[in-house]
Amino acid sequence: MSGCNEEGATLLNKRAQHLADIIKKQKKIHIVTHIDADGITSGSIAYEALQREGKDVSIEFVKSLDDKVIERLTEEKHALVWFTDLGSSISTSTPQLNKIITDHHECPPNSDLGFHLNPHLFNLDGSFEISGAGATYLVARELNPKHNKDLSALAIIGACGDLQDRTHCKLVGYNKEILNDAIQAGVAKAKTDIRYFGRESRPISKLLQYSNDPILPGLTTRESACTAFLCELDIPLKDNESNWRRWIDLDKTERRTIISNLLTLLLNKGFNSQIALRMIGEVYELSAEEVGTELHDAKEFATLLNSTARYGEYEVGLNICLGDRGEWLKRGRTLLRGHRANLVEGLQYAKDCGIQKQDFLQYFHAKDGIRDTIVGIVTNMLLNSDSADCSLPILGFAYTDEDTVKVSARSTQILVDRGLDLSAAMQVAAAHFDGVGGGHNIAAGATIPKGKEEEFVEFVEHIIKEQLQN
Ligand code: C5P
Ligand code: C5P
Ligand code: ZN
Repeated sequence: MSGCNEEGATLLNKRAQHLADIIKKQKKIHIVTHIDADGITSGSIAYEALQREGKDVSIEFVKSLDDKVIERLTEEKHALVWFTDLGSSISTSTPQLNKIITDHHECPPNSDLGFHLNPHLFNLDGSFEISGAGATYLVARELNPKHNKDLSALAIIGACGDLQDRTHCKLVGYNKEILNDAIQAGVAKAKTDIRYFGRESRPISKLLQYSNDPILPGLTTRESACTAFLCELDIPLKDNESNWRRWIDLDKTERRTIISNLLTLLLNKGFNSQIALRMIGEVYELSAEEVGTELHDAKEFATLLNSTARYGEYEVGLNICLGDRGEWLKRGRTLLRGHRANLVEGLQYAKDCGIQKQDFLQYFHAKDGIRDTIVGIVTNMLLNSDSADCSLPILGFAYTDEDTVKVSARSTQILVDRGLDLSAAMQVAAAHFDGVGGGHNIAAGATIPKGKEEEFVEFVEHIIKEQLQN
């Protein structure tokens, strides 16, 4: 298997087989999944695969697995609960629940248990080699290898939603095998192209305006500068019918002209070629979807899903994944407009709050200004902008409706390679303040009591200092 730890992959497949066997023995199964794009695709893969098996299925979406949720699930006495894109954190602490888990977050010690499938158990990295949706897909594939390979398309969307293509500018590791399934099943295609968001559905000037990996000095965030840049290259902004032209509407020569001028711009500004070339990489298209819609590009599809369950509209995301292209999609598109506006406003709000810089981290506190369910996305965008210092990890704080504080932590691969582990930092620091935390080395989160933010920052800074100095 290309680029994947073969032994780990074999063990992962074996675990998937075992989980499929557990499922086959049950009639009624309750799915519990996460509210982000990877969570929605994970839940949808499980839901569809179980329906195809003729099971009696129910599903719910949760922000996190706190004690209240576990207590309720215990009282509900489900015959079997299938946790997707979450669950590893409670794998060893809830013997009262009959469960299976397909997750990719870092695991607690001694959690290599028969009902638990997680890449970290088998020496694979869940932050970029396989997502929650990928882990769930492995079980779906075992349930029916002949008919369920089409569900790999949802696993690709989930992986893109979790930015698993970010480290290598393409999907690698076990994700690559899932991609091969999708290509063979005729549900997805991979191609090399510009990686900026909005290839299919945004006017070209907007694609440049919102560019962030790498940022384009003088163009990123500047609408009129982007328009002027394109005019100078003789690229018409509109077609004959006055429609805004999108990246996919450009011909090969136009695309080449733009890319070579963007690369020159970055190199002239002193960016090294490795960073500049990050604008090019693999993009994933979903063959069954209409070209030029938010559904055709996997990253754009993931953003559409992020506009749903993060705002409590779970059914919208679920039904779009299950194939609805009518009313649910219409509602999803409305939510997407609101989500985009919230991200733009949220990013500005975070910048206005001011980023506090310490020796080993930087942070901002949005209080009630940014929803707790999207503060992670905003924190990531901020780290990729020129307002933050990309040599430091960043924490974003926001209040929740439950009178607690949500923390989102984000970093770069360079710091992770130097020993940074935000998952461990969030888990240990949150526990110290009676909160809960975890995630991945590069991106993690926590919920802590209100009023503890400053002490929390000091505590996390101390942990990060130790991680980077060891
Ligand atoms: O809960 P879950 O694992 O699905 O979320 C993963 C989070 O990690 C996402 O918010 C994603 O943006 C972030 N991430 C990142 N950089 C990576 C990998 C993941 O910011 N290289
Ligand atoms: O919520 P946010 O996007 O910041 O989360 C980043 C990563 O940390 C996600 O993978 C999420 O599932 C994880 N996380 C966690 N425990 C928490 C909060 C977030 O494992 N209490
Ligand atoms: Zn995930």
